[in-house]
Amino acid sequence: MEASLFDRIGGKDSVKALVNELYTRTLNDPDLLPFFQDLIDSPLGIMKLKEKQEKNLQYILGSSNGEDYDLEFAHAELVDKGLNETHYQKLAQHFKDSLDELKVEDDIQQIIMGKLNDLQDVVLGK
Ligand code: HEM
Repeated sequence: MEASLFDRIGGKDSVKALVNELYTRTLNDPDLLPFFQDLIDSPLGIMKLKEKQEKNLQYILGSSNGEDYDLEFAHAELVDKGLNETHYQKLAQHFKDSLDELKVEDDIQQIIMGKLNDLQDVVLGK
């Protein structure tokens, strides 16, 4: 059987490291931080979001332990508050930088970034 992207990237530990790196960068970005303020203010908010994002990425990368989320529903309130393509592209760049930081191979990076690109309209409810 062909190895899934999840396996090729290094499994659960790698996804966890990727998610940590992604949110460190995202929460340090003054353009993106306001969207996360409610979560920062609530106990365990960011921790729970990271756990969900791990499950979500596991799903996207083809792990049988992943979980499929309704990404349009999850971001609808944020879109009402102004979440747009520019914010999405900034987060995607933080994602790309995180993959670089973790030294994920180029061919895997390209597939993952393609998948994220396909999700833009879903997240933004287009
Ligand atoms: C790469 C594209 C993205 C993916 C794959 C993604 C994934 C997710 C997932 C899986 C959740 C949890 C869903 C749930 O609770 O059911 C979530 C929630 C959230 N996302 Fe995203 N997201 C993306 C883009 C963004 C962007 C661009 C922002 C803002 C700059 C953002 C901000 C948030 C916030 C604040 C929540 C928590 C919403 C809440 O609990 O009310 N996301 N996202």
